[in-house]
Amino acid sequence: MAGGPAPGRSLAGRRVLLGVTGGIAAYKAASLARLLSAAGADVRVVMTPAASRFVGPDTFAALTRNPVHQDVFEATDRVLHVRLAREADAAVVAPATANVLAKLALGLADDLLTSILLEARCPLVLAPAMHTGMWTHPSTQANVAALAARGAIVVGPGEGPLAAGDEGVGRMAEPEEILRAVEAALGSPGAGDLAGVRVLVTAGPTHEPIDAVRFIGNRSSGKMGFTVAAEAARRGASVTLVSGPVPLPDPQGVAVVRVETAAEMFEAVTARAEASDLVVMAAAVADFRPGEVHPGKIKKGDGPPQLALEPTPDILSGLGAAKGSGQVLVGFAAETEDLEAEARRKLKAKNLDLIVANEVGRPGTGFGADTNRAAIVGRGEEGTPLREWTKVELAAAILDRAAGLLAAARAAAGSTV
Ligand code: C5P
Repeated sequence: MAGGPAPGRSLAGRRVLLGVTGGIAAYKAASLARLLSAAGADVRVVMTPAASRFVGPDTFAALTRNPVHQDVFEATDRVLHVRLAREADAAVVAPATANVLAKLALGLADDLLTSILLEARCPLVLAPAMHTGMWTHPSTQANVAALAARGAIVVGPGEGPLAAGDEGVGRMAEPEEILRAVEAALGSPGAGDLAGVRVLVTAGPTHEPIDAVRFIGNRSSGKMGFTVAAEAARRGASVTLVSGPVPLPDPQGVAVVRVETAAEMFEAVTARAEASDLVVMAAAVADFRPGEVHPGKIKKGDGPPQLALEPTPDILSGLGAAKGSGQVLVGFAAETEDLEAEARRKLKAKNLDLIVANEVGRPGTGFGADTNRAAIVGRGEEGTPLREWTKVELAAAILDRAAGLLAAARAAAGSTV
């Protein structure tokens, strides 16, 4: 990471909305308010009613030297939530309870904070804090994945002491870490470790037409690729996402190209690959397609059609064969058995730098799920062993490894970019 902002003034001139919700970690939000203010930000604090059970508004008012807002119907300003939403350069919710994450995922607006965040279009940083069971519950994980896929930046939670003497995952990230995420979200100089890196990501399935209405497809949800794209953008990269047909919205700050078939994905990816420093092929590209597409709808009464299939182009193999020096290629290997051995074989065969060996075919992991059982396999022996990840965690780990490889490649080439 080159340069960096002058110490203490990284957020000068930026207005940051700090949402504080009702959890024991609300006391740490006071430190965050202090750090944001010290970094030069004009901090506007909005508290939910439950938050003020843990820490008083006067604390935040004193730290930010601004009034603290709690009520949608606050006197004198009829459209307070719209004003606060539009004035904010970034919004951060710390702590973010399971409840507020669920409301944001659904688009509910039943208090001042959620009303502001529904209106706001600025970068959103979320610092979840809750008990381990609430964090690992599939509802919370689905809500966090949905928010991340829409571009929200999720920081933490970490592991450690929780309220009521418990220990585990669910502890709010430290205020310094949340500050760094706000800096990165605002493109503060040097804040993103992928600043200046051109990243191409693919996601989703492809649909291979049989006739005018039917296709061959697979169960890929696109969540993994969308999460990688959102995370790379958050870390400062310039990101293009080529996606097969999935109903996910465009992640914030990412250029999205929507395609249907393997052939269209091939065109879209090969046209952009040469100008990319890092390519992450998370798409589940169909391996076979019908050799002939029936122009109309095949009639049921004619009996089951005989489908002659032909292979689709292997996009990633093509990229591997043409790989430029300094370019980093990451593939995925979705396997039901012999996971790591198959992954290593594909890593070599496709001339990749990293491959994510992804266990599929079991409930709760792989296609469509919010968690993955996966290992990250590189060219050397050192790997990240098979374990369960949220898709957000896995995306971050893939980009950590890729960032290391890019830095090494640049150092080898003598570049200082
Ligand atoms: O060989 P296999 O399909 O298991 O390899 C999976 C990897 O190759 C994934 O990264 C996938 O995106 C990519 N792939 C591709 N073109 C295909 C099939 C797979 O780029 N036709």
